[in-house]
Amino acid sequence: MLVLTPPMGWNSWNTFGENINEKVVMDSADTLVSTGLAAAGYNYIVIDDCWSLRERGEDGRIVPDPVKFPHGMKYVADYVHSKGLKFGMYSCAGMLTCAGYPASFDHEFIDAATFAEWGVDYLKYDYCFHPSTVPGPVLYKRMAVALANCGRDIVFSACSWGSDETKKWIKQTGANLWRTTGDINDSWRSIKELSLIAGDAITYGSINCYPDMDMLVTGMKGVGNVGFAGCTDAEYRLHYSLWALLGSPLMIGCDIRQMDDFTRETLLNLEVIAINQDPDYNQAYDASAYGVTFQDAEKNEHPIYVRQLSNGDLAIGFFNLSDQPTSRWNSYLALDRIGLPESTGKTLEMKELWTGETFKVTNGIFGETIAPHSCRLFRAKVVNA
Ligand code: GLA
Repeated sequence: MLVLTPPMGWNSWNTFGENINEKVVMDSADTLVSTGLAAAGYNYIVIDDCWSLRERGEDGRIVPDPVKFPHGMKYVADYVHSKGLKFGMYSCAGMLTCAGYPASFDHEFIDAATFAEWGVDYLKYDYCFHPSTVPGPVLYKRMAVALANCGRDIVFSACSWGSDETKKWIKQTGANLWRTTGDINDSWRSIKELSLIAGDAITYGSINCYPDMDMLVTGMKGVGNVGFAGCTDAEYRLHYSLWALLGSPLMIGCDIRQMDDFTRETLLNLEVIAINQDPDYNQAYDASAYGVTFQDAEKNEHPIYVRQLSNGDLAIGFFNLSDQPTSRWNSYLALDRIGLPESTGKTLEMKELWTGETFKVTNGIFGETIAPHSCRLFRAKVVNA
């Protein structure tokens, strides 16, 4: 199926892990709608691992845990659909899921049929406990062909953590998104690590096959399954800005029923979401001097990502992943690097999307002093100099 922009929604894993149940999922569906998140584009509710019994039923089908989901999955799917949302679930290409529940290896068609009967719209497909005898690309093709023949449109979300060079073969499988890295957790260390390696995978992304930088930890504040140390507000904003600008799917991982105002404002910045969902889906590139000059982009703690938008504007993000403030000499953008040399007679009218501040760039260059672990995210219009 064709997915025109990166999927957005909420996934149970980061906060709830194995502690999921019907009430959490249905309450979260209600909350997506009542907070305006659904109207802003977050329309998938995805149940991650740990939703089933440990054994398949006698008919060979996976059985939802009757304690966690006493009315079965179709009931939950119907409820999610009644809210105008889409319903996602989780399985794995191996014998077992990562948490040790039955997975879909050698059961691809029966599982795809079961998901279709329940009304599933999105399947996250993990990579744990896969047999060494069948190559990864084939495992993902097996589920892709089963989904394509299950009689229902189901978004296929591959989750092989970027291993075995996923980026090079994932488009052959028909997956609509692929996880580019190992798991995120709610700490600055994790956000920084994933941010430094993001630039590589995004160059393989395109409409209908999006680089999934993992679920958001924004707003978790150290609470829940991958809660770890938690992050500062500035770090959460950097994380969200980078994921949005680079075109990652935006799957919220915090408990949205408990969001504070800062989290709500971060997740509901419609101008930032518009960049993520830009219909052209042009790839972002690093226009910092380091990104342009050096090969080892993974060492660049001050990337300046730029993305051409469909109406002619540019999205520009200055990121400071280091522990020191940036200075104008290590974080500046020369307009000729992005296609606007002086000879064009053009410059940029900037709008910072978190503060609303506006200004015009003069002399073909501008630098930003950015606090450690912070960012500035702009939408820029091309105007006469
Ligand atoms: C893997 C995935 C995570 C999550 C867990 C569930 O680690 O990468 O996103 O789905 O499995 O067990």
